[in-house]
Amino acid sequence: MNAAPILQLQAISKRFGTIQALDQVDFDLYEGEIHALVGENGAGKSTLMRILSGVYTEYEGEFLLDGKPVHLHSPHDALDLGIGMIHQELSVMPELSVAENLFLGRQLTTRWGTVDWKKMHNTAEQELERLGFSHLDVRQPLGNYSLGTQQVVEVLRTIISGARVIIMDEPTSALSPAEVERLIRLIDKLRESKRSIIYISHFLEEVMRVADRVTVLRDGQKVATLNAPETNVNNLISLILGREVNATLPPAISTSNGHTLMEVNHLTADVFKDISFTINQGEVLGIYGAIGAGHFDLARALFGMYRFDTGTITVDGHRFKPNHSARYAIRHGLAFATESRRKSLLMEEAIYRNVTLPHLNRIGSLTPTQSQELKVAAPAIHMVNVQPPDPLNPVGKLSGGNQQKVAIARWLTFPPKVLVMSEPTRGMDVGAKSEVLSLLRNFRNQGYGVLVVSSEPETILTVSDRVIVMSHGHIVAHMENKDLNKDVLMRLL
Ligand SMILES: Nc1ncnc2c1ncn2[C@@H]1O[C@H](COP(=O)(O)OP(=O)(O)OP(=O)(O)O)[C@@H](O)[C@H]1O
Ligand SMILES: [Mg+2]
Repeated sequence: MNAAPILQLQAISKRFGTIQALDQVDFDLYEGEIHALVGENGAGKSTLMRILSGVYTEYEGEFLLDGKPVHLHSPHDALDLGIGMIHQELSVMPELSVAENLFLGRQLTTRWGTVDWKKMHNTAEQELERLGFSHLDVRQPLGNYSLGTQQVVEVLRTIISGARVIIMDEPTSALSPAEVERLIRLIDKLRESKRSIIYISHFLEEVMRVADRVTVLRDGQKVATLNAPETNVNNLISLILGREVNATLPPAISTSNGHTLMEVNHLTADVFKDISFTINQGEVLGIYGAIGAGHFDLARALFGMYRFDTGTITVDGHRFKPNHSARYAIRHGLAFATESRRKSLLMEEAIYRNVTLPHLNRIGSLTPTQSQELKVAAPAIHMVNVQPPDPLNPVGKLSGGNQQKVAIARWLTFPPKVLVMSEPTRGMDVGAKSEVLSLLRNFRNQGYGVLVVSSEPETILTVSDRVIVMSHGHIVAHMENKDLNKDVLMRLL
């Protein structure tokens, strides 16, 4: 590695009230380096990066850029110094064009101060060509493209803005395998052009592929900084958790007497066609597909959140009326956690409130007391191990992964007959992932039905008894989860 680091953080500490989010953390970055940052949910990764990108301006410790102390006052300051951050939550504007998104906040103007569309389109096209994304039409609304492409455009925007330090906070959590590959190629290109990248991810195999060095945070402290060739996934896991991970799920107990809990027949909508399946008591069905395969909208349709044209849904012998509401679905034994869980949470409201929200009418009266609600919510919050575990905390103050856990806890209070979950482990650290999958397994073992809808092959393969593969809206395979592996699934897409 050459000479001095371009960026150094020394003994950085940051408190939120009583929580010590960061405790004397050191971190540095060299030119042309990919430095990965890993750690459990709530370890302090995003907080450290928000300091680096000017979002948090109050902290203790030193921040040196090219050897000189700096103190940023805003993300704008950071960008001026060449530091750009791509946040955990997308911040693109789907209704604006690709070009407008690429120049968001820095529109190119003519001499007269009006937007110079021609120049913007031409420059956008040239930049996309140079970066290997010339297949994107700069005039199309960005919303016409997949979530993955939208994510990529956010990355491209930061690059085009001239940032030499690019922070990516979980860039691949919503990408299809092909999109992940494209992003990794882009990262390699950036390294060649001497840009530096800080890469946050819970996908440790991906981390091992892209990173030159890896820093591990645990409980706000730096545990280690390692050269990638000198470590491996298992080593990282034990550093992240500070213990060995118990990756084995509770054994699958057979409780099924063949009773069918859910039956879906010939369900058809604009983005999925002729979908039929059953789920028996004590069974987990996994539906696997790439992003855009229609499986997430299928899940929404089951729960009354997406319009379907024909077909039937029956839960425990009760046939749903066509295009029912979510409330109707809940009343008849379904629960559903969407893949975009942040949207389903009320960030200002307390954790317990977010858990009891869909069930208020079952907790006695329409306006239950706080203690009534807490009594219902507390066991579920405990079950998913929300950290910190104070149920009175607003959800908005939790780390990304812990927010996900709250959205799951919501459905453990009044158990449904069939639990439908899209991307149950998205954004979760290795420990939390296995906790949530164990939870689903236990739910199954108690004789409930579970439908897991996911684009992560590992998740599907770990918990499912049977697997359906969807591609372009159709079921292309339906099989027992025996002798299956990632390659088999991905080849079917
Ligand atoms: N705005 C805030 N107010 C209060 N506490 C906060 C705030 N932001 C973060 N925290 C707390 O600081 C700690 C670190 O959170 P941070 O978001 O940095 O974690 P993370 O490593 O990015 O986790 P994840 O993998 O879940 O995204 C957590 O305990 C979190 O609850
Ligand atoms: Mg985070």
